Amino acid sequence: MLTLSIVVGRAHPEMLARTELWIRRTLPEPVKVFYRLFRLMATPAPGASPSLPQPLLDGCRVLESRSEILNRLDKGSVGIEVGTFRGDFAAEMLRRVEPRELHLVDVTFANLRADVRDDPRVHLHGGLSVEVLAGFPDEHFDWAYIDGDHSYAAVRADIEAAWSKVRPGGLLIFNDFARYNQPGFGAFGVHKAVCEFVRDRRWPVVFWAFNGEALYDIALRRPDAPPA
Ligand SMILES: C[S@@+](CC[C@H](N)C(=O)[O-])C[C@H]1O[C@@H](n2cnc3c(N)ncnc32)[C@H](O)[C@@H]1O
Repeated sequence: MLTLSIVVGRAHPEMLARTELWIRRTLPEPVKVFYRLFRLMATPAPGASPSLPQPLLDGCRVLESRSEILNRLDKGSVGIEVGTFRGDFAAEMLRRVEPRELHLVDVTFANLRADVRDDPRVHLHGGLSVEVLAGFPDEHFDWAYIDGDHSYAAVRADIEAAWSKVRPGGLLIFNDFARYNQPGFGAFGVHKAVCEFVRDRRWPVVFWAFNGEALYDIALRRPDAPPA
């Protein structure tokens, strides 16, 4: 176990992501399951998250569920979901937000629902999230929903790739804002990566959405550009 942790823990995140992409695209399902188990067992737990400065929490609204975040996004807005899987939440985005454009990013769309795939507002981008995000102009999106690889290194990379693509006043939203560390069974880095971003870049927290499994959503608003 220690050896596995050292091997995976020290590997370059991009190398890991490329390996994962190749595995997901080419190998049969039983091998993929084995790989996922190996990766979960070997990912080292991230350290504790920093606390959040109170002024960045003062304007936060607590919501019943992540669907309520969607209810508060602007109709006709342009959004992106990083990590789509079957497209169940994407379908909800289409219904509740009525976006002008919804961009979906995943390493594979093999499981995507037909109604989402066929919606004329949907644009599919197959590939690694960091690379796909890099292809958009800055300030292109009104909001970005991040729900891809949950490891600490991957979430940090997604944040770095995504934040400049959101317009000032737009939202960066994260699923599974949770500190889930089960020794030997996996570690979520979403909580730590997001707390560090809030602390360092001072994006206020505007929504926090309840979830029965304590896998909360959190939404940050990009501060307006300082006056020229
Ligand atoms: C938890 S699922 C997304 C669920 C979806 N957001 C929902 O709520 O219905 C995570 C998805 O992220 C994708 N994913 C993981 N790492 C990725 C990466 N580096 N780039 C793009 N997609 C990735 C996986 O293929 C998987 O389909």
